[in-house]
Amino acid sequence: MDNSNSFAVVHNGIIENYSDLRDFLGKNGYTFLSQTDTEVIPNLIHYYFSKDEKTDDEKFLRAVKCCVNDLKGSYAIEVISPLYPDRIIVVRKDSPLVIGKGVKENHIASDIPALLKFTKDFYLLNDNEYAVIYNDYIKFYNSNLEEHTKPVKNIEWDASATEKGGFEDFMLKEIYEQPNSIRETIGSRFKLGEPCSFDDIDISKEYLSTINKIYIVACGTAMHAGLVGKNLIEKLCNIPVCVDIASEFRYRNPIIDEKTLCIYVSQSGETADTIAALKLSKSKGAKTLAISNVIGSSITREADFCIYTHAGPEIAVASTKAYTSQVVLLAILAIYFAEMLGSTDLKILEDLKKDILDLPSKIHAILDNTQELQDFAKKVYTQKDMFFLGRGTDYNTSLEGSLKLKEISYIHSEAYAAGELKHGPIALIENGITVISIITDSNLVEKSISNIQEVITRGARTLIVTNQNLPNANFDFVINIPKTNPLISPILSVIPLQLISYYISKNKGLDVDKPRNLAKSVTVE
Ligand code: M6R
Repeated sequence: MDNSNSFAVVHNGIIENYSDLRDFLGKNGYTFLSQTDTEVIPNLIHYYFSKDEKTDDEKFLRAVKCCVNDLKGSYAIEVISPLYPDRIIVVRKDSPLVIGKGVKENHIASDIPALLKFTKDFYLLNDNEYAVIYNDYIKFYNSNLEEHTKPVKNIEWDASATEKGGFEDFMLKEIYEQPNSIRETIGSRFKLGEPCSFDDIDISKEYLSTINKIYIVACGTAMHAGLVGKNLIEKLCNIPVCVDIASEFRYRNPIIDEKTLCIYVSQSGETADTIAALKLSKSKGAKTLAISNVIGSSITREADFCIYTHAGPEIAVASTKAYTSQVVLLAILAIYFAEMLGSTDLKILEDLKKDILDLPSKIHAILDNTQELQDFAKKVYTQKDMFFLGRGTDYNTSLEGSLKLKEISYIHSEAYAAGELKHGPIALIENGITVISIITDSNLVEKSISNIQEVITRGARTLIVTNQNLPNANFDFVINIPKTNPLISPILSVIPLQLISYYISKNKGLDVDKPRNLAKSVTVE
């Protein structure tokens, strides 16, 4: 609230220059009750409102606009005032804000799923666009306060997708949804015997032939999906792929130009670092392709091309079904590019398509047999540290398994490329420590086993996730998963790791869906 209680504000984001604005307002007689950056906003609105000598109906909106002109940072702002009780004014920049259109009521939120039980019709605000929301109509304005119309977007998500549907937690529900979410991701993008099609993107063979490098940029789990995508694209398309963390990429002055295709992966499509990285690569002349799960999210509107994972709303903070759908989509994209470029034998691509189509039933098989994972979780949930090991693409899965464990069980864990063990981390292996290893590539079985023997010798407790016939060895737990093409094996091998994290978290009595200190969409730097 401002000092006179005339304006109340809800704000998501960060006002970077709030200290300067606070000084300015202080010099003009305003006082502050808190240290928050948000408190400058209602007071600044009041400042401009009281300076405006006109008394017309737009005065409130003008004051909000003058305030917003002074703000630096990222924000989604909602303002109400008892002087104008019939309306809510909203504006956003680099922070998500959606407006749900109801019947004689309208709603605002930062995320579509929050409003699905009220409506499926949404207005998605652009940066620096204003909406004045009344109960039965909405007016839209650009940054110069010129009024315009805006199309409504119908979102197909089912409201029941935002309920637990008999599961104890959203995370468990989303893990079990994976056979179906993957079917949705595949959709009509390919049929056996026919080339892949992406109606939603207009990437020509001519353009693709000019590309000499691909970047996949993302954060967290989405970045881990990118690592699997790198293997797929390099192998099938013979184009070098760099995978980068968005928060590093954006400050590193990466070497990119019009011959670079930059792929941005984001479940929410609202991750601040990923959006900033995308804008940077556009400014350097690269074409950008967004992979997102949320229709109309910021990243999809910024990118040159956009494809959706269609995994359905993901509510739990820990990403599960979004990850597997991202990997599936990257696999289909790699096949699509390879078909266009003629870079891989069609028989190999056809076999890979068959393997992709078989994924849902193979995931079902893993999900139907979780007892050993539950027993393992009971044994290890009190541990303080754990290690994940893998080689090749199994290393990528290790990274994702380790992130999941940290996030929801608060157990410190590290993932290592198994061959790196002897270069340092083995010093940490001691009696009773838990080491989880993934082995899905027949070419790397022997090497991986010898790494595991090294930790067993030092007293480690081991769990192996594998689709190989391993020689008899003294492993404590072996989780067998179905065989598939090694390029897409992370989609299967990650499932037991998701479940292990889940069961450990439950054993510890933690809030699985809302782990401490984390947000579902990281919309600030
Ligand atoms: O919405 P995004 O895919 O851009 O989110 C990226 C990361 O913040 C996200 O994957 C995070 O690491 C998850 N909580 C992991 O489970």
